[in-house]
Amino acid sequence: MRTFPLSLAAAASVVPLGSNAVDFEKEILPFFQAKCIECHKAPYEEGGRTKKPKAGLRMDAAWAINMGSENGAVIVPGKPDDSELYYRVTLPEDDDDFMPPTGKADPLTKKELALFKKWIEGGADFGDWVGNLEGKPKEVTTAVGEPAISEIQEVYKRLSEAIEAKAPETWESVTEAGGRVARLSKTSPLLAVDFRLTTENASDEVIGSIGAVSPNIVHLDLSKTAVTDGALSILKESPKLVRLNLSQTGITDAGLAHLKGLNELRYLNLYGSEVTDAGLKNLEGLKSLEAVYLWQSKATEAGVKKLRSALPDAKINFK
Ligand code: HEC
Repeated sequence: MRTFPLSLAAAASVVPLGSNAVDFEKEILPFFQAKCIECHKAPYEEGGRTKKPKAGLRMDAAWAINMGSENGAVIVPGKPDDSELYYRVTLPEDDDDFMPPTGKADPLTKKELALFKKWIEGGADFGDWVGNLEGKPKEVTTAVGEPAISEIQEVYKRLSEAIEAKAPETWESVTEAGGRVARLSKTSPLLAVDFRLTTENASDEVIGSIGAVSPNIVHLDLSKTAVTDGALSILKESPKLVRLNLSQTGITDAGLAHLKGLNELRYLNLYGSEVTDAGLKNLEGLKSLEAVYLWQSKATEAGVKKLRSALPDAKINFK
């Protein structure tokens, strides 16, 4: 799993910051600004819509970089190779995960890469730089220098415990069937699976290939696939599922009956599915749900109202 450094201060203190230490504000921040921050900054309005930082990662403040992304910490002081922030810029440029995304900004130069690495090796010290305080959570530090871990990061951290990582060979059956499997982060045992490359060619049989990695799946995207209700019985093998996308599928109420035991489920997309009010009853016990998308499904105002009263804290998107 991704390492959650207990104390950045402790990690940094073992590395002497000599005169050759990298100066974050002078030597790192300029290329963050030129190549990263445009997509990784505080939410802002554009054309009447709120633009959020990509992957929940803000790079416009020291506290935000320490807090990491929606998937967890992105820097492990002293360890560039365990730091997602550095790992992403060192991938081959044609890798899907390469940062900045190809064509959107210039890749880091050799000199920038070397400085970046050296800065993390030296303890990832921001010096006097603070950055944008907007949006900083109040409880951002529990002890001096200790990074805050957001609620969702806590969830992934908990789900990572007592679970064995799967080797890439175990999911060959999924990729051969046209699915994609990705670790939540470089070192996480948790997996995200989608069939966005094959969509309507993803039959129940194809989707059944996920059985090989079921216990580790936290994100599953079956949108636009040919999945049918019966095939969703495989979801009982994935009790750690946090996000499930069934949008634009033929899934009906019978399919939702298979979601009952998914106690970690926070996000459920049923946009454009065949689900009706009767099926929504199956969701009433899923108390972790935070967002349910029912736009262009067969659900009605009345059914949505009932669901809202069963799940008062969930955001239910309808019409
Ligand atoms: C044009 C927009 C854009 C730019 C510029 C950009 N990113 Fe990203 N970044 C994204 C998107 C979109 C994602 C989410 C998809 C993904 O994980 O690949 C992402 C995800 C990430 C993640 C993964 C976070 C996680 O834990 O899931 C890291 C780390 C990251 N970016 C670092 C960087 C760095 C470092 C730079 C600058 C060198 C950069 N990005 C520049 C759009 C951008």
